[in-house]
Amino acid sequence: MKVLIVYYSMYGHIYQLAQAIENGVRQVKGVDVNLRRVPETLPDAVLEKMGAIETQKLQSQVPICSVDELGEADAVIFGTPTRFGNMCGQMRQFLDGTGKLWMSGALVGKVGSVFTSSNTQHGGQESTILSFHTTLLHHGMVIVGLPYAFQGQMTMDEITGCSPYGASTIAGGDGSRVPSENELAGARFQGEHVAKIAKKLSA
Ligand SMILES: Cc1cc2nc3c(=O)[nH]c(=O)nc-3n(C[C@H](O)[C@H](O)[C@H](O)COP(=O)(O)O)c2cc1C
Repeated sequence: MKVLIVYYSMYGHIYQLAQAIENGVRQVKGVDVNLRRVPETLPDAVLEKMGAIETQKLQSQVPICSVDELGEADAVIFGTPTRFGNMCGQMRQFLDGTGKLWMSGALVGKVGSVFTSSNTQHGGQESTILSFHTTLLHHGMVIVGLPYAFQGQMTMDEITGCSPYGASTIAGGDGSRVPSENELAGARFQGEHVAKIAKKLSA
């Protein structure tokens, strides 16, 4: 049983959620988990102007994902920052290279799940996850979100990410907010939940 977490993170928020998701997957016995990044599409000069060089360096030990690795996994959990209410271009580019998996039906019946991050509370987290699901459905994947069994998504005590669609964090207008304990708990829950369902599906 293999769970693949594949993500893009410019400033590290999605990376932190991805690590929490990985910890959640590890709670399920007999499941292997791999963490992968999608390839960068922006030149270093642009990343520098965007102030993203340091956070890219921090992730340099995370291997780049190959399309074939998607086909080898039993479940794939995708992480993307919001870009105008959609997935980021780096993730789109990677997914647009999965035509051969679509042709062979390599992902049909496998679990697909999505998590995200945005700067603002209502900046498009839900539209990002739901529009991402369209691609997963074209691949025949079985969509898994973050059920209300993770009750932290209902809290009114603090501003928080996470919804029935998937774990999320709010980076703040200037990107300085870090994922809260509640958001990290949601990410761990999603990882464990996906791994348990994938295990049942492959039984
Ligand atoms: C081109 C671009 C578009 C963005 N669009 C949105 C948006 O629609 N809503 C929002 O709240 N944040 C938006 N952001 C902010 C990113 O979502 C934010 O930087 C990201 O969630 C941080 O995650 P990361 O640290 O993993 O990169 C945008 C950022 C860029 C560069």
